Amino acid sequence: MDHHTEAVSKVTVPWILERKLKGEKIACLTAYDYPTARLVDEAGIDLILVGDSLGQVILGYDSTVPVTVEEILHHLRAVRRATRRALLVADLPYGAYQVSDEKALEAAIRYLKEGGAEAVKLEGGKKRAPLIRRMVDAEVPVMAHIGLTPQSLHAMGGYRVQGKTWESATELLADAEALQDAGAFAICLEGLPREFAAILTRRLSIPTIGIGAGPDCDGQILIFHDLAGLCFLPRTKFARLYTDMAASLRPALAHFREDVVRGRYPDDSESYHWPPGLREQFEQSCVSK
Ligand code: KIV
Repeated sequence: MDHHTEAVSKVTVPWILERKLKGEKIACLTAYDYPTARLVDEAGIDLILVGDSLGQVILGYDSTVPVTVEEILHHLRAVRRATRRALLVADLPYGAYQVSDEKALEAAIRYLKEGGAEAVKLEGGKKRAPLIRRMVDAEVPVMAHIGLTPQSLHAMGGYRVQGKTWESATELLADAEALQDAGAFAICLEGLPREFAAILTRRLSIPTIGIGAGPDCDGQILIFHDLAGLCFLPRTKFARLYTDMAASLRPALAHFREDVVRGRYPDDSESYHWPPGLREQFEQSCVSK
């Protein structure tokens, strides 16, 4: 039976929380369109994130900074149509929650109402706690994100591993606890030393989802295009290549071009046909005109 017709047990926010209690890992990936989301969902991935990484991965921007709420919504709707089982989370992009809590709440509610998201993700430490409280109060589940937060690119002065010193780790631990107290249901840990991510994971009761934060987090997330070899950005050390789609697509594309140029594509079996006799009749009527 096809996955999309078969009864699938839907992943929910409480299910994600339970997973940590049971000591079971949570597998997460990004997706930005119908075919990839469908493959990811059918593979049994628990959480799909329509990340603002789509700015770089799909739209070719230099960073995630230019990404808008409308762009996320456009991709979110496509992913929604493909997703049956996974919990669907959408990123609030830079600018959507820095201006006012009202604006942030409006964007989050649009994601739920118009895009079919089941939760939102936003970056930042304890200063986001009041906003997270408001969102949770408005029934919007929130995934927090600390450590290397790509939207703070200019403030950080580049993409750097965080929490490498005692001071920075102490600050991040206070951030993580404040975000948990505010009601975040999970926390993404990006670009942290594995020893520190392990301590955070032990101290928090909500699941930690790591990316570049070592193996001891409660779950892991990767960018789909990194895993699939379809990313044109410099490769980070944690982005394991599970398949190299660019390497298999390149010869296929060259082959197609060659076939077209040499008249080998399409062949007769790949063509539609008139019923017998119609061609002769048609040609004769053309000649007699
Ligand atoms: O935008 C994104 O894809 C993310 C992941 C890297 C966690 O935030």
